[in-house]
Amino acid sequence: MRQSWFVSFEGIDGAGKSTHIEGLAAWFKGKGHAVTLTREPGGTPLAEKFRDLALHESMDALTEALVMFAARREHLMQVIEPALARGDVVLCDRFTDATFAYQGGGRGFDWEVLQSLERMVQHVPASVLRQPDLTLWFDLPPEVAAQRLTTARVPDKFESQPQSFFREVRSAYARRMAEMPKRFAQIDANQSRDAVWHDVLIAVQRAYQA
Ligand code: TMP
Repeated sequence: MRQSWFVSFEGIDGAGKSTHIEGLAAWFKGKGHAVTLTREPGGTPLAEKFRDLALHESMDALTEALVMFAARREHLMQVIEPALARGDVVLCDRFTDATFAYQGGGRGFDWEVLQSLERMVQHVPASVLRQPDLTLWFDLPPEVAAQRLTTARVPDKFESQPQSFFREVRSAYARRMAEMPKRFAQIDANQSRDAVWHDVLIAVQRAYQA
């Protein structure tokens, strides 16, 4: 069985990815893998501080992108790269596609600047450019996500954005998938939880065997 696999989970707020991340962690453990379950922004004590800033302080769009990438660099070097070197399956709740989607799409920040930050930050000794092996994009219309979020906790800076913001976020995810189709699996998140889980498992098994 293949070792050292890097899977990221993406989607607009309210897309319902969290329960499936837990489910996949259990699924991989059941197959005998060591699993590192982590998230962005965050995943280390320092990166969690960056998360707190990014989610609760208003800031200039470049500053926001830099904070996301600073948190990512820290997380990559302290958690993701060591886990992959050990042979773990790394399950990461959001990664760089979220920066392209939220800062690039939602905020309208320059895509090429994000690409050069990506090249700089994800250049690691073990790989020319670290990217997930598989990205599960939980795709949901923003109006459905908004209904789900009304019952959720007090919204953070991003969750309280209008639907127009999330339409841009969604389009930017689609653009990233078009740019890197091989590692993306688009999951229809506008279904029952069981149906979504079924699609997640199919996508994982297909990518895993590839
Ligand atoms: P979460 O609520 O799924 O943990 O994600 C945290 C929020 O941060 C979510 O609203 C998306 C946002 N975000 C960005 O804006 N840029 C990023 O690069 C990442 C990783 C998350």
